[in-house]
Amino acid sequence: MVEIDFHSSVESNTLYREAADALRENRIDSKFLYFTPRQTALWREVFLRHSPLHGNSEFTRIYREAFARVAERTGAKRRFLVGLGCGTGLKELELHSTLAARGGEILFAAIDASRDLVRESAERLIAAGATHHGSLVCDLAQAGDIGRWLDDVGGDLPRIITFFGLFPNFLPPVITRLFRAVLRPGDLLLASAHLAPVTDGIGHDIPAAMNAVLPQYDNPETLIWLSAALEEAGLENLVEPPEMKIGQIGKIPAFIASARWKSAAPFEQWGRRFTPRPDEPLRVFYSLRYTPALFENLLKREGFAVERLALTACRQEAIWCIRLG
Ligand SMILES: C[S@@+](CC[C@H](N)C(=O)[O-])C[C@H]1O[C@@H](n2cnc3c(N)ncnc32)[C@H](O)[C@@H]1O
Repeated sequence: MVEIDFHSSVESNTLYREAADALRENRIDSKFLYFTPRQTALWREVFLRHSPLHGNSEFTRIYREAFARVAERTGAKRRFLVGLGCGTGLKELELHSTLAARGGEILFAAIDASRDLVRESAERLIAAGATHHGSLVCDLAQAGDIGRWLDDVGGDLPRIITFFGLFPNFLPPVITRLFRAVLRPGDLLLASAHLAPVTDGIGHDIPAAMNAVLPQYDNPETLIWLSAALEEAGLENLVEPPEMKIGQIGKIPAFIASARWKSAAPFEQWGRRFTPRPDEPLRVFYSLRYTPALFENLLKREGFAVERLALTACRQEAIWCIRLG
């Protein structure tokens, strides 16, 4: 039986409060897209059908190359591999095998908002030979104290932390706060970001670049997955089906799915009263699409050392190594 801890951020009272706070701001919190087993299954379908990782060898190449560079750098010491928002853990499995090929023990911890995905990835890496002292179900956006849990589980071991596919779904201040909470001097954090595939490095062609990747988001499987979040929240009869559009959040290009309120009639949910505004659709989902320059400037401004390890030829995804500056 895999040992799994539960952070206070995923206690049911906290979750109801956050779901209600988000609804008050006319949005669904991203973690509620993945919570139930049904949502996890629907997301898996989206991932299998629409992630360019399947069917484009460039996406597997950048992970392979990035992992090889990290393994070269860290040698055969004992290390603590931490998968933040690890999903199925398949990328961490590949990183583990690249590290393990150089010898040395690897302790692994899976951390995700979904209990099913935490269990799945922990079991996967244990089967591959990783040592496991515990994994954590946790809301990474509310885990300012997560460093203490990592200290308890991994002690002084140098950390290799993954943060794959999560840059699109968290706002920059949440990410930089989390990175400060998990990184210590000498630790490495590997992060990937989905990118707007601009050609000029400056971003003059962002609209065309966003249009080129829109079908990865505007498709029946993604909209069914997002509709499930509306059903889980008990809102399915109050809003129209979600629609995916190209927009911006802060100054970052984004795909944004919104659902129009059917009426302005007040309703009660989670013990609170809400009054929708039909002219302001409910934001169900967003996915930020950085350019390499936007990504690197953001982290450098916040005092992190950022090194680009690999970029796909289609410029849609890159992997960086991030350390405390
Ligand atoms: C787009 S998937 C990426 C999964 C995996 N890292 C990969 O690259 O295939 C996002 C993952 O983040 C998790 N997640 C989303 N919001 C979260 C939150 N607030 N806290 C912790 N995990 C979260 C989801 O459960 C899901 O496993």
